[in-house]
Amino acid sequence: MPEVAAAPAPSPLCRLDDIPDGQAKGISWGGGAAREDILVARRGDAAYAYRNRCPHVGTTLDWTPDRFMSADGLHLQCATHGALFRVEDGFCLRGPCAGRSLSALLIRVTDGAVYLDE
Ligand code: FES
Repeated sequence: MPEVAAAPAPSPLCRLDDIPDGQAKGISWGGGAAREDILVARRGDAAYAYRNRCPHVGTTLDWTPDRFMSADGLHLQCATHGALFRVEDGFCLRGPCAGRSLSALLIRVTDGAVYLDE
């Protein structure tokens, strides 16, 4: 009987501990034309992931690397025109794209690691 090679274990986006509670982290995922900028936000033991692309004009949200939160720490904020997004579902509460949402990605947290559910 021929041996069947085991599928390689998926790589995590990051570890939950890589993200300070209440903050978010930017991740460049994949390579070549498939490369995507992703952000993962942490709230305690929960994590939320979105494409790092503002629904207004498509720029990345971060002010500087891994700086995604509004000054009060409550919302994700776009650095370009200041739109505010709920962490839990990416809905834009205020700004030029109010009523629209960040593009959410399915993730799971297993043994402290955050995986993309592709
Ligand atoms: S590009 Fe994000 S609010 Fe304008």
